[in-house]
Amino acid sequence: MLSVSTIADVRTHVARWHEQKQRVVFVPTMGNLHAGHVSLIEAARQHGDRFVASIFVNPMQFGPNEDFAHYPRTPAQDAKMLEDAGCDLMFMPDVGEIYPNGAAQATRIEVPGISNILCGEFRPGHFEGVATVVAKLFHIVDPDVAIFGEKDFQQLTVIRRMVADLCLRVEIVGAPTVRESDGLAMSSRNQYLSTEERKLAPAIHRQLSQAVAALKAGERDFGKIEGMGRAALDGAGFRTDYFSVRDARSLAPARPDTRQFVVLTASRLGKARLIDNIQFSAG
Ligand code: PAF
Repeated sequence: MLSVSTIADVRTHVARWHEQKQRVVFVPTMGNLHAGHVSLIEAARQHGDRFVASIFVNPMQFGPNEDFAHYPRTPAQDAKMLEDAGCDLMFMPDVGEIYPNGAAQATRIEVPGISNILCGEFRPGHFEGVATVVAKLFHIVDPDVAIFGEKDFQQLTVIRRMVADLCLRVEIVGAPTVRESDGLAMSSRNQYLSTEERKLAPAIHRQLSQAVAALKAGERDFGKIEGMGRAALDGAGFRTDYFSVRDARSLAPARPDTRQFVVLTASRLGKARLIDNIQFSAG
């Protein structure tokens, strides 16, 4: 595996692959890789010939009181996991390479409407930071395909909208959430949980599953489903930011005629803010 830290080096390697008519698949990450990330590289295999992963903890997507400084950074372990997963090129830039004029002064990309709801309401500016860094990474890597986990469902929706609005040539692919055996979605932030909190955490997936079961059984009182999910989580010791039934394509609140559903939650447990969702089609 090639390991580079400059934009110029990424462009040299990718340009050679494009000249050889090879399809380049890109997996952007913030590092501290786990089996969920490895599954993205595995999904990448179905879409191209060469695999590029970036490892960059993006300051622009963290709020002033969030965990940017403490976000787990494990570069040596990440490099080994990427190499073992068959990645061809790892791009691990420093902040100055991505934001030469500083992140605070950088040109930004705003994806209106869907960036300030759900997680965006509780993390102002977060999706602007995500859209900006992902657009920059797309310009640097110039991939044919990029893979994002469905666990970050709102992020995936924002990126799809940005790609459509900016007429970018990259194809966006969502990959299914990878879960622990008890249902907890894999996340680098799970390591913030204490042993006791870790035992409680699968309640998130259980409550989402119960909400989906109610929808599948024909319940269309969305407020009732949301209220029950929130009350169950808060009663178990979480502090729930939102528990919401939405249209999976637009992220607008679900309506009686909605067919593509997504039930999403963000809930805080101790120092961790956990997000998860389940999508389903009502046919
Ligand atoms: O999902 C992530 O890890 C990040 O939000 C991403 C897409 C790599 C942008 O920094």
